[in-house]
Parts: sequence; structure tokens; C-alpha cells
Amino acid sequence: MSGTPTTGVPGSAIGDGIVEKRDLLSIADIAGDLPDVVGRVEELKRARPEGVLPRTLPDCNVAMVFEKPSPRTRSSFETPIQELGGHPACLSTSEMQLGRGETIADMARVLSRYYHGIVSRAYRWQNEAELARPSSVPVVNALDDREQPCQVVADLLTLRERWSRCFRGRRLAWVGDSNNVPRSRMLGCAAVGLDPAAAIPEEYRPPDELTAPARRLGESTGSNLRFVADPREVVRGADAVYTDGGVSMVEEAETAQRTRAYHGYTVNDSLLDLARLGAFALHDLPAHRGLEITNSVMDGTRQATGDQAENRLHTQRALLELLLAPRGPGLPGSTPRSG
Ligand code: CP
Repeated sequence: MSGTPTTGVPGSAIGDGIVEKRDLLSIADIAGDLPDVVGRVEELKRARPEGVLPRTLPDCNVAMVFEKPSPRTRSSFETPIQELGGHPACLSTSEMQLGRGETIADMARVLSRYYHGIVSRAYRWQNEAELARPSSVPVVNALDDREQPCQVVADLLTLRERWSRCFRGRRLAWVGDSNNVPRSRMLGCAAVGLDPAAAIPEEYRPPDELTAPARRLGESTGSNLRFVADPREVVRGADAVYTDGGVSMVEEAETAQRTRAYHGYTVNDSLLDLARLGAFALHDLPAHRGLEITNSVMDGTRQATGDQAENRLHTQRALLELLLAPRGPGLPGSTPRSG
């Protein structure tokens, strides 16, 4: 688990005990809790339409710091924070002083005095770590260049829902890049014992230092990480096929090279036909139609992208509860850490 012990609830009138600050920077930080977290997400999802959502974060103030745009992640945090009884405050880079020389650490110490938790989307994972280290309140990674843990919790729920609540015997095929979502996915699959098989061009596969934690986690759950070059090999017989940008979202200079490397990696109907009957495509969105996935698949019945997006909302609620509720709302105004 990432994070350091702090005395009491930050800035809290209740601060009379030792409370472990718990960050979620990598999905590995909640690997042991993942089955319970996904179960809680399911409970909360059921409770919402019934109008019986518990107000488990009364008067919790949560800062949402976004270095990059994010319609889905921002909305899927903002709404649950309010529904759980808390108050979200969104801070984009243009509203901060980081560009004018303020350090991330200084900002973290100040935000810790105002808020009970920080949700952060950053360009680099080092920025998330720099934010979390001096912060005395939990920091949640809402995407950086290394991981997107919240997305993958929602994806595991989507798979469970579609697979009669059981991962056993199921096969998830990944077709595409090895950037942030796939890295969290490797770890998430390893934590729940799901075999992730990935088709990624050799030159774009993650280095051993990034796959080692997933392989270690997989040893205890029986999950076996495998890379191949041919998308047809992983899709054949799979129960779901996940993709996101292999060509999109890269520097323009790299586009031509990637377009060549990713030739044949588009998830289209004929690729999906190789999967098992009832198999479906997944994409964390935004989708780059015509590049990693076709219009026909995106607009057809063999996809679960709407469920994935909706499940972000239910997931954030459970994650916020897990990290913030044990610390209680307290009152902002002091900090147990130096500075
Ligand atoms: N999937 C995802 O994180 O979407 P946003 O960039 O819209 O938040």
C-alpha cells in the first residue's frame, strides 16, 4: 500500500488515534481488497436506483486536480462525492500556481489542510508520487502515464456482470498498446486470477520492470500474463476483447511508425468473429474510431463500452469510501505532518 501513517484524521477534531493514510496510485495498492471492492461497487450500484445510497462521506471535501482534460473521470468522481454527502472542488492546471514555480509538494501540503482527499490526473506518475508523499490525506490516481487504476476496477465489474459474476475459465484478450490502462489491467487481472493475453507489437511491449509486479501477483492467484504479436491469436476463443489507442494519443512524429506497427490490430467485426459466441469488445473511451476500433463494433451489440463508462461512477463511490470513510470527515484547519 502506498502512503504513510499519520496521526489522527488530517485537520480533524476527531484526531485522537493513529490513522493510516492510504493512497491509490497503482491498482497494486488495493490488490488484496479488489474482490471486496468490486463486491461493494455492485452493492452501491444496486442501491442507487433504489434511492438508498448511504451518505458515507458526510461533509468530506475532496480536491480534484486535473493536469489533463477528463470528462468521464471528472464527472464520475464529482457526482458520487456529492451523493455520498461530500463536496468536490475541481482545480485545473490553469487555476494553480505550478506553472509559476510552486512545487507540487508545497501544493500537496496546503491542499491537505483544506481537503480530506485529493483526486489527481497528471501527465507523469512522478507527479502523482510527488503529490502523495507530503500529502497527509489520501491521494487517488485518476490517470497518469503509468496507470489508470480506477478504470480497471470498473472494467473488472463490467466483466463480472457479463460473466455471471465469475472470472474462472474466462479469457480476456487485449489488443493494442501497453500504456496506462493496460498496465493497471495486467495488475488487476493478476490480482483476481484472470489470464490476460495481450497482442502488442514487440517494440511497444512493456519492459520487464513494469510486468514483474503483475507476474508476482499472478503467482499467488494462478494468473498468467502472455504477450503475442498476432491479434488473431489472442482473440481466438476469448470471452472479451479490450482495446484502446495504439496509434492514437501519441506524438505526431510517431504516428506513421505506429500506423505501420499496428496494421491488423483494429478491433473489427471479422476479428471479433474469432472470439467465443457472446464475446464483446471493451474500450475505456475516448475511442478513436477507424484506428483501434471500427464504427461497426462501437455502434453494434457486441460491445460493453456504455457499461464500462457507467461503472466508473459506481466504482469511484466505492473507492472513495474505502480510502476516505475510515478517516472520518473531521474539520480542515490543521495538519499532523510537518510544513
Ligand atoms: N477513460 C477515461 O479516463 O476517460 P476520460 O479521459 O474522459 O476521463
